[in-house]
Amino acid sequence: MTTPQSAKIAPAKGKLGVLIPGVGAVATTFMAGVELVRRGKANPVGSLTQLATIRLGKRTDGRSPMIKDFVPLAGLNDLVFGGWDIYEDNAYQAAANAQVLDPHHLDSVKRFLSGIQPMAAVFDQSYVKRINGPNVKKGASKMELAEQLMADIQQFKAKNKCDRMVMLWCGSTETFKKPGAVHASLRAFEKGLAKNSPDIAPSQVYAYAALRSGVPFANGAPNLTHDMPALIEYARDQSLPVCGKDFKTGQTFMKTLLAPGLKSRMLGVSGWFSTNILGNRDGEVLEDPGSFKTKEETKLSVLDTILQPELYPDLYKDLYHAVRINYYPPRGDAKEGWDNIDIFGWLGYPMQIKIDFLCRDSILAAPIALDLVLFLDLAQRAGMRGIQEWLSFYFKAPMTAPGLYPEHDIFIQLMKLKNRLRHLMGEDLITHLGLEYYD
Ligand SMILES: NC(=O)c1ccc[n+]([C@@H]2O[C@H](COP(=O)([O-])OP(=O)(O)OC[C@H]3O[C@@H](n4cnc5c(N)ncnc54)[C@H](O)[C@@H]3O)[C@@H](O)[C@H]2O)c1
Repeated sequence: MTTPQSAKIAPAKGKLGVLIPGVGAVATTFMAGVELVRRGKANPVGSLTQLATIRLGKRTDGRSPMIKDFVPLAGLNDLVFGGWDIYEDNAYQAAANAQVLDPHHLDSVKRFLSGIQPMAAVFDQSYVKRINGPNVKKGASKMELAEQLMADIQQFKAKNKCDRMVMLWCGSTETFKKPGAVHASLRAFEKGLAKNSPDIAPSQVYAYAALRSGVPFANGAPNLTHDMPALIEYARDQSLPVCGKDFKTGQTFMKTLLAPGLKSRMLGVSGWFSTNILGNRDGEVLEDPGSFKTKEETKLSVLDTILQPELYPDLYKDLYHAVRINYYPPRGDAKEGWDNIDIFGWLGYPMQIKIDFLCRDSILAAPIALDLVLFLDLAQRAGMRGIQEWLSFYFKAPMTAPGLYPEHDIFIQLMKLKNRLRHLMGEDLITHLGLEYYD
């Protein structure tokens, strides 16, 4: 028998620093929520690490512990938060501006949130056109800015007596960029940092600083960030786990629930039109065509990979897929997403499905942020390095090894996640074959 990997997982002792570039709606809803849960004032709805169970062994064994009792995760009381933003607002002011949480929730964590003061950001307006703020670092080169971030990380760690740290990008969506020569290797990237290459985005400076500081990195936005050879290679060299991109919430979450179902029954899809209105700062940033293009790419890729038109041309080859996002201030964070889906069945007869999802973006994203932080920290302690594909469950555009298509079907993603945890702890994987019950 192989030794269970659990024997090698370092215990989750001491404080876990959670470092967040972008102290906006998602970040503050996440921080406030953790504090409310810690005080017993709210439930962590939507979080697998806090609420889900995991079946072990046979269906007849009756073993279904909570995930948090099965794998050694950091406890919520051990999380300490810090972050960077281009605005000087503390996390309470930022949360009040974001208007996600009701005053009765916000007021009860006012002292806690007010104590989280964003550090000065690395920012470049050519990457996020619609916003600008005063709380920004100055430096002669991007390498110098990375070094300033590394100093921030060390100071935060010492001040808060952290044992370990994780960084999660919750900053605005940066403009669309494909990987270029500067992203091809660590050498080229470091040279680019020193020479101030315009192709290096601020989020990449953060990711580099995290990896150089020995901190795992996750990306909640669709921008390229560390999804390129230089930083993936660096993460492996540094024995650090990384994952991304773009939290799977709202409309894409719905798509990855519904599309696998339609395909499982071999029903055709001829059109999928998705449109959204939202009025938060994220919506404002996405008004810029460059930032929208980044988002559109991750949103569009989902259906193609799930439906596999190359394997099922009769059902999906002619699918017309469009995604629109409109900034509409009156709605704030309460997004509305409409989907019109034109499907066809037996003998090609057409049918339609309409979805109107009145969702709350940051309420859906906050538990994802929590799970990612706790699972990345677990991965770090278990010596898992490089891309963590088992965390695809949380992303619209999961990072994968080069040449491998991502898995978008949420049910396969969940199975993968749970099997990874079983594997980590030396338990049998669950294949759902089930022959043993009928022998
Ligand atoms: N809310 C969701 O459901 C959801 C889902 C998927 C992805 N996302 C992505 O998560 C990110 C955060 O969303 P949000 O709703 O909190 O947006 P937000 O606009 O409320 O917050 C983003 C914050 O990032 C700051 N920022 C921008 N560039 C920065 C930089 N270089 N360094 C430090 N801070 C910087 C902004 O000033 C802002 O305060 C966005 O990119 C969004 O597209 C959100």
